[in-house]
Amino acid sequence: MTPSPTSEGGRSPAHRDATKVLVVGGAGFIGSHYARALSADGAAVTVLDRLTYAGNPANLEGAACDFVLGDVCDTALLAEVVPGHDVVVNFAAESHVDRSIAEAGEFVRTNVLGTQTLMQACLDAAVPRVVQVSTDEVYGSIDIGSWTEEAPLRPRSPYSASKAGGDMIARAYAVTHGLPVSITRCGNNYGPNQYPEKMIPLFVTNLLRGRKVPLYGDGGNVRDWVHVADHCAGIRLVAERGEPGEVYHIAGAAELTNVEVTGRLLELCGAGWDMVEHVEDRKGHDRRYSLDDSRLRALGYRPSVPFDRGLAETVRWYADNPGWWRAATRAAPARTIAGTAQDAETSQEATSGTQGEADR
Ligand SMILES: NC(=O)c1ccc[n+]([C@@H]2O[C@H](COP(=O)([O-])OP(=O)(O)OC[C@H]3O[C@@H](n4cnc5c(N)ncnc54)[C@H](O)[C@@H]3O)[C@@H](O)[C@H]2O)c1
Repeated sequence: MTPSPTSEGGRSPAHRDATKVLVVGGAGFIGSHYARALSADGAAVTVLDRLTYAGNPANLEGAACDFVLGDVCDTALLAEVVPGHDVVVNFAAESHVDRSIAEAGEFVRTNVLGTQTLMQACLDAAVPRVVQVSTDEVYGSIDIGSWTEEAPLRPRSPYSASKAGGDMIARAYAVTHGLPVSITRCGNNYGPNQYPEKMIPLFVTNLLRGRKVPLYGDGGNVRDWVHVADHCAGIRLVAERGEPGEVYHIAGAAELTNVEVTGRLLELCGAGWDMVEHVEDRKGHDRRYSLDDSRLRALGYRPSVPFDRGLAETVRWYADNPGWWRAATRAAPARTIAGTAQDAETSQEATSGTQGEADR
């Protein structure tokens, strides 16, 4: 990563003809995987990120991309940075449901106003291709079957409501102004570099420390798990071959209850069920999400990482990289459901004092 506020600084001559991609929110979990994959394939990548607690420059180590420290809500900055890009992909978001229950303001600001500010900047700069990255949570809970892209949005948490707001803004820019923006909606992601507050990285890092894992309610909530590499491949496909103005679902291959995921993590970490502490359920906790991804499959998408293999590799990555997650949690406080900021290094010492996050 080149930590420079310019979009051309330090770029090799070969990159001058490469596709120029702006990855907004590219220092976070999924955005950094996307930026690294694209730059490895020769794209000229610029990351713009505000570096909130979830943004981590270490996620971009080794990637040949430029970096702009900044806010997606900053109109003047976007007017400088956005022009000249062939593709803009928006990952920037407040992304954790429990934080949105404790404090929703930043979610509305970044996820709604930030999306509008970026869409306007893309329109002003006549960017030829834009992708807005979103989530299955905008539809709310579904007991049986799967949502298609035509399903009504019925978000049930401040996080999902703010993401739905961003989606609506992106769609409005496509319909009203003809902005060539597509929206992707994906299930629960897992993989390396995920800040340890969401279920899989929190449980793994707790177990690696010999600490208990907090499981919400009866643990029967069902999520569709998508490896981050598959999510990124799906977004790339949409950027390259998707229809502007359309929504595309990106599904995984593993619908599992939180109890089932917990069982696999305990086994991979060599721990028993005595390491699980059942904690009070999240307010308004959605029971199940499920997406029909036939539209993207018609473009050739197939999830390629089997869940059990991807999970084992993910656990190994956290075991091999304690410096990464210890530094990340030291730099940023973990947050309880009640909204109390605590230092993760100490708060997770006693799980009874920390409400874990059973999903995003
Ligand atoms: N994690 C999942 O399971 C999942 C699933 C489906 C969709 N998504 C969506 O994918 C996107 C990325 O998710 P993630 O898990 O990588 O999130 P993350 O929280 O790990 O990363 C978000 C990034 O956005 C940056 N950011 C936050 N506010 C900003 C602002 N105002 N200006 C500029 N940058 C800002 C942060 O610094 C961070 O780098 C989000 O839009 C999320 O809604 C996530």
